[in-house]
Amino acid sequence: MIEKVNLIKESFEKDALNINDMKTLNDIKIQYLGKQGKVTELSKSMKDVANEDKKEFGMLVNSIRTLVTDTLESKRQELELKSLNDKLSNEKIDITLPATNIPSGAPNILEKVVEDMENLFMSMGYDVIEGPEVEEDLYNFELLNLPKGHPARDSQDTFYLEGDKILLRSHTSPVQARVMLEAKGEKPIRMVCPGKTYRRDDDDATHSHQFMQIEGLLIDEKATLSDLKGTFDVAAKHLFGEDCVTRFRPSYYPFTEPSVETDISCFACKGKGCAICKNTGWITISGAGVVNPKVLQMCGYDPKKWHGFAFGFGLERVAMLKYGINDLRAFYLTDLRQNKPFDRKEDK
Ligand code: PHE
Repeated sequence: MIEKVNLIKESFEKDALNINDMKTLNDIKIQYLGKQGKVTELSKSMKDVANEDKKEFGMLVNSIRTLVTDTLESKRQELELKSLNDKLSNEKIDITLPATNIPSGAPNILEKVVEDMENLFMSMGYDVIEGPEVEEDLYNFELLNLPKGHPARDSQDTFYLEGDKILLRSHTSPVQARVMLEAKGEKPIRMVCPGKTYRRDDDDATHSHQFMQIEGLLIDEKATLSDLKGTFDVAAKHLFGEDCVTRFRPSYYPFTEPSVETDISCFACKGKGCAICKNTGWITISGAGVVNPKVLQMCGYDPKKWHGFAFGFGLERVAMLKYGINDLRAFYLTDLRQNKPFDRKEDK
């Protein structure tokens, strides 16, 4: 019997030398410690051993079981370590290789101009408020002193959606009316509203049926044309540089009285005259004016107590001038290269 134990021990020691992978290790484990394994069979044969030899035999079997278990366990650890090391050395990163250039995204230029203007006006205490693009004739025209049949409606060739009541807003000014009505004539207002607007224009390099405006409205007990001038001056200098000079030219909008076109001195030629300013030295960038008392009244504000001014910038126009873009349609192309160079220029 004892001889048999020694034979098994010897054969295990030989087998253990061949363990080079997990599969062999598992096979050998089954061969020795499995249900019908050699060591298990030895334990079972205890019953055939003479009583006086049982103790010695038992100890022997136990020692071979420990030997097999320990050897297999340390082999297993060795194999695992080896496979980990192999993996690590295979996946070694060569830090001297040139990095792959991952192109980063850039915000759309229009979006950037909107954000910039929102931040500017927020710093002057204005709220940013959005209004619906599908608008009612009431807000887009009626409450802004543009009743049906008013000739100025023609200048805003409009997309009507349902009969003559629902339309795609032709400017951001209806948001003025909405905000005033909501405030019920009780409190001052400072708000800007950026957003898309629509007119039945043929698309070309400077016109589009869809464009963006940022509307501004300030209502207070004392608000004058000169406050508007000061506000516009700050905005123009912020957008086009400290040496930008501004001027107002008389104009007409039914919702403001007096109304003005707001010009900036040409930043390209500094007023001397060039292609950008069509040799005038000036560039028009928004319409504005003192809120017409009729509009105040219709929107719930007592014109004896309250005064205000409003302005509407064309955002594409500002962006085109600021970034030297010649064709309005470029804003709506999905050409990533378009945003990139401007982004870099700004980051420097
Ligand atoms: N709503 C005018 C337009 O779209 C611009 C404007 C806004 C003029 C506010 C005066 C006051 O042309």
